[in-house]
Amino acid sequence: MNASDLLWPGFAEKVPLPQPDVEGGIPLMQALQRRRTTREISTSDIPLGMVSNLLWAASGINRREDHRRTAPTARNQQEIDVYVSTAKGLYLYEPRNHSLRLHVAADVRAQTGLQEFVAQVPVNLIYVADLARMREVQIENREFYAAVDTGFISQNVYLFCAAFGLATVVRGWLDRATLADTLRLRPEQRIMVAQSVGWPLA
Ligand SMILES: Cc1cc2nc3c(=O)[nH]c(=O)nc-3n(C[C@H](O)[C@H](O)[C@H](O)COP(=O)(O)O)c2cc1C
Repeated sequence: MNASDLLWPGFAEKVPLPQPDVEGGIPLMQALQRRRTTREISTSDIPLGMVSNLLWAASGINRREDHRRTAPTARNQQEIDVYVSTAKGLYLYEPRNHSLRLHVAADVRAQTGLQEFVAQVPVNLIYVADLARMREVQIENREFYAAVDTGFISQNVYLFCAAFGLATVVRGWLDRATLADTLRLRPEQRIMVAQSVGWPLA
């Protein structure tokens, strides 16, 4: 069985992800040509191997020696956490061991945005900034840099989706207070934007 064929295990406390395949995709210029927002997204699952590659592309570690990531962050504060909302639970992506940790054992997809499709798409990513982690950034600059840093992650996801035939839409239209409750966030944690990912509707 190919890693990309692995299916999502249900509500597991910890989901180790297959090693990311860093060889695949299409040339960068073609990915840029194909990058777009798509809101017509199928309800079909994405195989675990593809989720693994998606998360690594989003914000995984690409330099083991110092744990730096595929997306830059101001002063390398690495303050953006990626939560993954699926039919089989809400998980936190842990880049250091490239795995998912169960955060809420429920399908909370409907709470990840104010558009109808979010309840049915296979994956909603939620980008959460932990401002408390940004010790080397002046307090008045933290939210601004967190927003900039989120943009890089979101664009990585856009390009990954373009390269692998997936549909995606980044979303700022959220009920942040309700979602923050669901995610049990501390006051210093801020929901930046969410991003839905799935197969395009034919
Ligand atoms: C910060 C940000 C927030 C966005 N919020 C939403 C949203 O809540 N819902 C949505 O359907 N699209 C949202 N979009 C997608 C934009 O509408 C889309 O990027 C824009 O229309 C340009 O289309 P393109 O991405 O295909 O170039 C957002 C985009 C950005 C950058």
